[in-house]
Amino acid sequence: MRKFFSVEDVINVYDLLKEALFLKKNPYEFKHVGKNKTIGLVFFNPSLRTRISCQKAAFNLGCNTWVLDIHKDSWKIEMNDGSVMKMTQEHLKEAISVMSIYCDILAVRIFPNLSNQDFDYKEVIFNKILEYSRIPVVNMESATLHPLQSLADVMTIAEFTSFFKKRCKVVLSWTPHINPLPHSVANSFSQWISKIDEIDFTIACPKKYNLHNKFSNGVFITHNQNEAFMNADFIYAKNWSSYLDYGKILCTSSDWMITVNKMKLTNRAKFMHCLPVRRNVVVEDAVLDSEDSIVLQQAENRIYASQIIFLKILESLS
Ligand code: CP
Repeated sequence: MRKFFSVEDVINVYDLLKEALFLKKNPYEFKHVGKNKTIGLVFFNPSLRTRISCQKAAFNLGCNTWVLDIHKDSWKIEMNDGSVMKMTQEHLKEAISVMSIYCDILAVRIFPNLSNQDFDYKEVIFNKILEYSRIPVVNMESATLHPLQSLADVMTIAEFTSFFKKRCKVVLSWTPHINPLPHSVANSFSQWISKIDEIDFTIACPKKYNLHNKFSNGVFITHNQNEAFMNADFIYAKNWSSYLDYGKILCTSSDWMITVNKMKLTNRAKFMHCLPVRRNVVVEDAVLDSEDSIVLQQAENRIYASQIIFLKILESLS
């Protein structure tokens, strides 16, 4: 694997899941592979899980890491080409090129601006990063995708279904939020879930919250959350801002919050969320704290999702 931007960089998702689950049981099996290798983790936006799980994954592979929080630790970065840089000190071009000299894999997080749909959905910035880097790049959440999260999510569903032994129903449910959030977790989850034949997948969202066709093509979409929850085995809660009315909040109704009563409509579904989550805005305490909540298993699997991707890339370097 020479880069990891999306599920399209994966040859076989089932095989990748099996390998990630093997790493979870045998985390230090490939400790030798990362000897004398360095992974650089670059954050243009905040993170708790992604940052620490990637560091732990690198440690398990015997790799060194460095972490750069651009807004706290670095110069102000210019993103535009041809700018007269009176307000910014360093161009993305030099920043990425230089950082890629200081490591063997460069992992980057950079969120969308949510104001220019075309710019975000063409992944203009991440494509520049891919162009400027001299080494393999890993997507730790870009304008439209969060593939390491989705790999961990699908891995978690695999664990709770004895590796998809029987068909299951998974619902991605939009939930309320006070801020306009990116679409990356929802887009990516939809893309990855669609690769698993044994999953019946439904997206429940208010009108005008449909995801871009590119990521939800062929998926059953309903605007009736209760109907979607009927017989569901997994409820994945996530807010996203509107794609159609780009980046806007069009619905604030707490009717879409995940509650104990809604979970009663399901087939005793497991509750999923990528975290961080706003309690009693997105989901009731009683659901998040219930034994059917598997958010911590998802967070744990972030380690092995990152680890298998780093391992694949490290193996391709030698
Ligand atoms: N789920 C996730 O990506 O968490 P962080 O934003 O804390 O990394």
